[in-house]
Amino acid sequence: MRTVLVLNGPNLGRLGSREPEVYGTATLDDVRAACAAAAAELGLAVDLRQTDDESELLAWVHEAADQRLPVVLNPAAFTHYSYALRDALAMRTAPLVEVHISNPAAREGFRHNSVIAAVADGTVAGFGIASYLLALRAIAGLMGDDD
Ligand code: DQA
Repeated sequence: MRTVLVLNGPNLGRLGSREPEVYGTATLDDVRAACAAAAAELGLAVDLRQTDDESELLAWVHEAADQRLPVVLNPAAFTHYSYALRDALAMRTAPLVEVHISNPAAREGFRHNSVIAAVADGTVAGFGIASYLLALRAIAGLMGDDD
């Protein structure tokens, strides 16, 4: 069974209490459970991780590249300014889908640009935690294309 890394950047460990009017009330554990259930239906396993630390996130992206693991990534605020994360993701060896819980395009101007989008296969944004589930479906489709 293929494993998909579901990587989450800064402040996403606080889902549930973080600006619930923007991000909803589901916790990261709820996201983990929903992803595991959706992945099982797709014949996939998920390994969901979260960090507030850019270097830890880069290490996970390097691990994914070395092990040819597909990635669903919510880069959180790193989306908008981390060229280091963008460069790490450019080395990817398997599908990558960028996700956002909110719709950054409908929010403050600084959220309108993603430095990640150009190195991803695609982006799912604005559907709450369902964005992750749609991204897993997209990953399954992309891996089907590869096989
Ligand atoms: C986010 C959107 C980002 O702009 C923000 O910095 C986040 C969360 C989202 O999932 O909607 O931390 O990636």
